[in-house]
Amino acid sequence: MSTLTDSPARYGLISRILHWGMAALFLAQFLSAAAHWALPRENGLRELLWSYHVNLGLTLFALVLLRGIWGLVNMHKRPAEPGVMGQAAQWGHALLYALMIVVPGVRILAALGSTRGLSYFGMELIPARATEIAWLQAPAEWHGEMGWILALVVLGHIAMAVGYHRVIRNDGTLERMAG
Ligand code: HEM
Ligand code: HEM
Repeated sequence: MSTLTDSPARYGLISRILHWGMAALFLAQFLSAAAHWALPRENGLRELLWSYHVNLGLTLFALVLLRGIWGLVNMHKRPAEPGVMGQAAQWGHALLYALMIVVPGVRILAALGSTRGLSYFGMELIPARATEIAWLQAPAEWHGEMGWILALVVLGHIAMAVGYHRVIRNDGTLERMAG
C-alpha cells in the first residue's frame, strides 16, 4: 500500500502513473493541435492527428478529475517544499490543474448548448439540441488560446523541474516523481 500512495519523500505509484501517462497523452494532444494550426486543411497527417483530438481531450478531462481526487486524498502526505519557492511551485501546479480542467471544460460546455451534441468513441454523451444556446458556447471561443497557454505553462514546468531542480540545484525534486 505504501508504494501506491504518496509520502513526504516521494510520489507513490498511482500519482506517477497518472503524471507520466498524462504527460505522454498531453504531448499527443498538443501534436494534434499543432497539426491543426500549422498544416493545410486537406493534409493527410493533419487529418490523422486531428482524428483523435476530441476523444483524447475527453479522456484527459476524465483523467484530470481522477488525478485531482487522488491529489486531495494524498494532500497532507505529498512531498512539499518550504519557503517562497515551495509556494510558487504550489501555485504553478494549481494553475496547471485549472487549465487542464478549463481547456476541455469549455468545449464540453459548448457541446451542452450545441445542435451537434458530443460523442465519445462513437457513444453519444450529449444529445444534439434543436436550437443553440449562445452563452454556453461563448467561452469555447477561447479554447485554442487557453490550450496554447497551457502548453506554455507546461514548458515552464519542465524547465523548472529539469533546468532548475535537476541541472542547477540537483536537489532530488525530479527524482521524487521520476526516480
Ligand atoms: C486537455 C485537452 C485539450 C487540449 C490541450 C486542447 C488543445 C487545443 C488547442 C491548442 C487548439 C488550437 C488549435 C489551433 O490553433 O488550430 C484546439 C482546438 C480545438 N479543440 Fe481542443 N483541446 C483539448 C480538448 C478538446 C476537447 C475535449 C474538444 C471537444 C469536445 C476539443 C475540440 C477542439 C476543436 C473543435 C478545436 C478547433 C476550434 C478551436 O480552436 O477552438 N478540444 N484544442
Ligand atoms: C517531461 C515532462 C515533465 C517533467 C520532467 C515533469 C516533472 C515533474 C516533477 C519533478 C514534479 C514534482 C514536483 C514537486 O514535487 O514539487 C511534477 C509534478 C507535477 N507535474 Fe510534471 N513534469 C512533466 C510534465 C507534466 C505535464 C505535461 C503536466 C500537465 C499538463 C504536468 C503537471 C504536473 C503537476 C500538476 C504536478 C504536481 C503533482 C501532481 O498533482 O501530479 N507535468 N512534474
